[in-house]
Amino acid sequence: MDYKVKDMKLAKEGKMQLEWAEQQMGALLEVRKRFEKEKPFKGQRVGMALHVTKETAILVRTLVAGGAEVAITGCNPLSTQDDVAAALAEEGVRVYAKKGETNEEYYDYLNRVADFKPTATIDDGLDLVSLIHKERPELIKDIKVGTEETTTGVIRLRAMAKDGALKYPVIAVNDNKTKHLFDNYYGTGQSTLDGILRATNILFAGKIVCVVGYGSCGKGVAIRSQGFGSSVIVVEVDPVRALQATMDGFRVMPIDEALPLADVFITVTGNKHAISGNSFAKMKDGAILANSGHFDVEIDVKSLEEQSKSKRRIRWQLDEYTLKSGKKVFLCAEGRLVNLGAAEGHPSTVMSLSFCGQALALEYGIKNDLDARLHTLPASIDDDIARLQLTAMGVKIGSLTAEQEKYLNTWEEGT
Ligand SMILES: NC(=O)c1ccc[n+]([C@@H]2O[C@H](COP(=O)([O-])OP(=O)(O)OC[C@H]3O[C@@H](n4cnc5c(N)ncnc54)[C@H](O)[C@@H]3O)[C@@H](O)[C@H]2O)c1
Repeated sequence: MDYKVKDMKLAKEGKMQLEWAEQQMGALLEVRKRFEKEKPFKGQRVGMALHVTKETAILVRTLVAGGAEVAITGCNPLSTQDDVAAALAEEGVRVYAKKGETNEEYYDYLNRVADFKPTATIDDGLDLVSLIHKERPELIKDIKVGTEETTTGVIRLRAMAKDGALKYPVIAVNDNKTKHLFDNYYGTGQSTLDGILRATNILFAGKIVCVVGYGSCGKGVAIRSQGFGSSVIVVEVDPVRALQATMDGFRVMPIDEALPLADVFITVTGNKHAISGNSFAKMKDGAILANSGHFDVEIDVKSLEEQSKSKRRIRWQLDEYTLKSGKKVFLCAEGRLVNLGAAEGHPSTVMSLSFCGQALALEYGIKNDLDARLHTLPASIDDDIARLQLTAMGVKIGSLTAEQEKYLNTWEEGT
């Protein structure tokens, strides 16, 4: 079997990680049970570019149970869990991923997934769809559907669709309510702080934390930082989101005003240079920087390198930069998404929801003839996912009476 992993001796440890993840992914296991019977992916070759974590491995097992053959690579050079990659390789999955792989390896591995000639793709950030469209267009004719996990990937897909460049249907899983309202909010909220803690072990209580971007992720990061006792500043460019942040009780200001105030900066914008090269000299001595947006473009690390007279790795996943003025700035996980670079990504429970979305989106795309554009899943599938998760958590809910149902669908009844 073809694979590229760091060390196959880690497989035993990886298997135990998968066992632990499965304990908390009851909703996805329910989907898997049905797939085992119905085999919706029989004959399908699924190419994946997703963070190779224990939760992703449970998604892979679910697709394999449904009859798919799978080839997987990472979607970020720092996010692979090497023990999980080894465990998957041992299960016979084509896996090409190593934590800390070079850029060259990253693209070599993406190409290996393309070499597998997928009939369906699953992306997180759109690098696989983008590679197929730009460099391997001969594969497109055999691809029935793609799915995309994250906000950044969906933004790229919208840009592709606008340019008329998207040549096969892709489902925006991020747009599921059961994805962005949970994974981005609760998942990124908790795991971003987990990553910063593992890299720095700072005390959040009493710190001033500047959250740049108040979308689904930023809202989660801001409220969790506040929960730890930090005073939170929000930097936003969207007036509605800025207003929400203000009414949620946070101080809102432009980045230039926040620079001299904050002890910790966390970017979650999905945008380039949210912390630009002009920022570092204006920060406090000892400021800590972390990014939890998808790509490592949010903090201008290249400019930080240029402005520094020295750099050293002071702790695991923490680099100390000494600026020419002598001021020090600390960068977590090289400016790559900190929750996966310096921690384990989102907790399994929240990924169970996201990956129910991936598994059911793939099934929907295989069963239906979708046209070559960006799609969202029907709301009924979102509701099914929420129900599966409620059941897994032992939570029961009521339902509308026939009278209420009727009332909500009529316009005649008023005061
Ligand atoms: N770390 C993770 O595990 C994880 C999980 C989910 C999403 N993400 C990624 O996090 C990023 C944010 O996702 P989201 O769902 O919150 O997106 P979103 O679109 O809901 O929110 C982003 C916010 O950033 C704001 N913004 C953009 N440029 C800005 C700038 N220069 N300064 C200040 N604010 C700016 C936007 O106005 C918007 O409100 C994306 O890259 C997404 O792919 C990461």
